[in-house]
Amino acid sequence: MEVRGVWRMVMVLCVAASAVGVSCSKFDELVQPSWATDHIIYEGELLKLKLDNSSGAGFASKSKYLYGKVTAELKLVEGDSAGTVTAFYMSSDGASHNEFDFEFLGNRTGEPYLVQTNLYINGVGNREQRMDLWFDPTADFHAYSVLWNPRQVVFLVDDTPVRVFSNQEHRGIVFPRDQPMGVYSSIWNADDWATEGGRVKTDWSHAPFVATFRGLRIDGCEWAPTAAGPAELQRCSASAWGKEGRYWWKEKEMEALSVHQSHQLIWARANHLVYDYCSDPGRFATQPPECGKK
Ligand SMILES: *[C@@H]1O[C@H](CO)[C@@H](O)[C@H](O)[C@H]1NC(C)=O
Ligand SMILES: *[C@@H]1O[C@H](CO)[C@@H](O)[C@H](O)[C@H]1NC(C)=O
Repeated sequence: MEVRGVWRMVMVLCVAASAVGVSCSKFDELVQPSWATDHIIYEGELLKLKLDNSSGAGFASKSKYLYGKVTAELKLVEGDSAGTVTAFYMSSDGASHNEFDFEFLGNRTGEPYLVQTNLYINGVGNREQRMDLWFDPTADFHAYSVLWNPRQVVFLVDDTPVRVFSNQEHRGIVFPRDQPMGVYSSIWNADDWATEGGRVKTDWSHAPFVATFRGLRIDGCEWAPTAAGPAELQRCSASAWGKEGRYWWKEKEMEALSVHQSHQLIWARANHLVYDYCSDPGRFATQPPECGKK
């Protein structure tokens, strides 16, 4: 209880700070290095993940959450980033885990980054989509968010929805539920697949490759690790919308996109989608069921 109380207070400070244009930077409160501590640099309100020929790096949230919205403000590797991947994602543990990924695929100087999103549900992924962006993601910070509630998973870029995975359980389609998820980020060398399908390799003479994080916000039902699972499930998911504190990410208006957001989604996909597993008969002779009509 006490831990949760402290966390709420930190979040309130963050929100208040960002309302006046100062970004939230309490990385220490929310996350810890998950590997290669010596490749993680704290610089005032910034956190930097560094990749060089000895290592990449990553961080992980200290807590897990059931439903919520997570946002990172991120400035991607400048200049030559070919072969590198920076990721920001949520994931649960275990073989039948759920995972919601943003993977930023680097490129040669002047060539566009691609943003790959993916969902793993009960351990099964293969739901890749790729987009380019309507801005240069290496020039400044932009916000990348995942909203997760019992009705939908939404990927957003600067609050523009770019992908929605809706709950279609009424059609027998599995939806990610019931597993608390941590929040993660990492940078690593993926030159076997990332850039132009692996044809462009990482040029180590351009190392270190640095991805910079500014605000990190996690609004979610924090899972108490010591409490019984069923009680936590009940507390975080079975309560009425908005009951038990203000779980705004589960409230009625968060169950589906607004009309304005639907238009934004259509615009983003019409103009920036470059790959969709839903239209790849070479990979899936039969279209995956969730891609069909609602
Ligand atoms: C890694 O990079 C450092 C610094 O550029 C260089 O001195 C070293 O030789 C490199 N090591 C390998 C194994 O390439
Ligand atoms: C990198 O740039 C090339 C050339 O513009 C483009 O075809 C490719 O999709 C870009 N991104 C990746 C990840 O390969």
